[in-house]
Amino acid sequence: MKFLILAIVFILYSCVAPFGSQNKSTLHFQDSRQIQNLEKLLIEKKLEEKKQFALEKTRVFKEINSDAQESYKFIQLILQNKCASCHDENVKLPIYGRIFKQINPVTRHQVEGLKALNFGSGFPFKAMGSPPQIALLKAIRNAVTDRTMPIKAYTLVYPHKKITTEDQQLILDWIDPIVDRLQEYDMKYNSSQKNVSTQALKILEMKCFRCHANGNAKGEFGNMENVSTLLHGKYVNLNYPDQSKLTNLINSGKMPPNKRETLDIDEANIIRDWLELESKKAQTK
Ligand code: HEC
Ligand code: HEC
Repeated sequence: MKFLILAIVFILYSCVAPFGSQNKSTLHFQDSRQIQNLEKLLIEKKLEEKKQFALEKTRVFKEINSDAQESYKFIQLILQNKCASCHDENVKLPIYGRIFKQINPVTRHQVEGLKALNFGSGFPFKAMGSPPQIALLKAIRNAVTDRTMPIKAYTLVYPHKKITTEDQQLILDWIDPIVDRLQEYDMKYNSSQKNVSTQALKILEMKCFRCHANGNAKGEFGNMENVSTLLHGKYVNLNYPDQSKLTNLINSGKMPPNKRETLDIDEANIIRDWLELESKKAQTK
């Protein structure tokens, strides 16, 4: 009887044990394989999400642009009629504008006008300084609202080229929705760049590049796109950042020259914080 029980136990053990242990080891093996697979899946999912995000970003941007191009036709005639003499690279100056180029104010107006804004190839507009389109659109908005454009010297000779209330309405109806959408776009797709340096540079790009970067150098101050040149130039004082001419001009509202473009308190604070950070960096070097 004892022998029988032992025999049964032995048989059972020899059947189960190898199977059991083998089963265990394969389970281990499968566990790590499964984790690896899971990690791979997660990475793939993240990559896929990133890809989708990038695709969506491009699609939305294209959509905004093509909508703007489409609706541009409603104001194109106004701009062609009232602004093209100085802001369209395809427009040839009249003969009296081409003689004595160096001193001829008509030539000068076109040369300077084209630097500030060139809509010769439609929307998006070109401009020296390569400012963001939002910056240009806002500048046009201000110029039209305040009637600072077309310039006085021109409307004195051609009073019918002045902007009318109706022109203004049509132009703002075109500009405002685009600005809103571009701002929304920025918030949604570019807001991951949230540190103070990127924010500060974004503000300078928006508010100063038109006149002080990428080839444009109003007041003989250019190259703002080159951060290191800017930080070590004469307008920034890295020892006493709050005494920098750059911040003084910003805080006093002298730059940008148009009061409508003056930096708000949040923006000015970001520039201040950024210069303080750069100052600390320079001192710990
Ligand atoms: C007779 C020439 C002339 C005409 C016409 C003209 N502009 Fe200008 N515009 C200029 C010049 C010159 C500048 C550069 C001014 C400067 O650098 O201070 C300029 C600059 C601008 C700027 C940039 C302003 C800034 O803040 O830097 C905008 C925006 C603009 N023009 C819009 C327009 C619009 C819109 C029209 C038509 C309604 C128009 N302009 C018609 C000559 C002209
Ligand atoms: C619409 C064009 C325009 C924009 C936008 C603009 N500036 Fe200027 N800036 C000028 C002109 C014109 C001068 C030279 C005349 C003057 O000093 O008023 C100048 C001069 C300067 C100077 C040299 C001053 C000096 O005394 O040597 C600094 C620094 C400057 N700007 C900083 C800025 C900053 C910072 C911004 C953006 C926050 C800005 N500007 C935006 C037109 C502009």
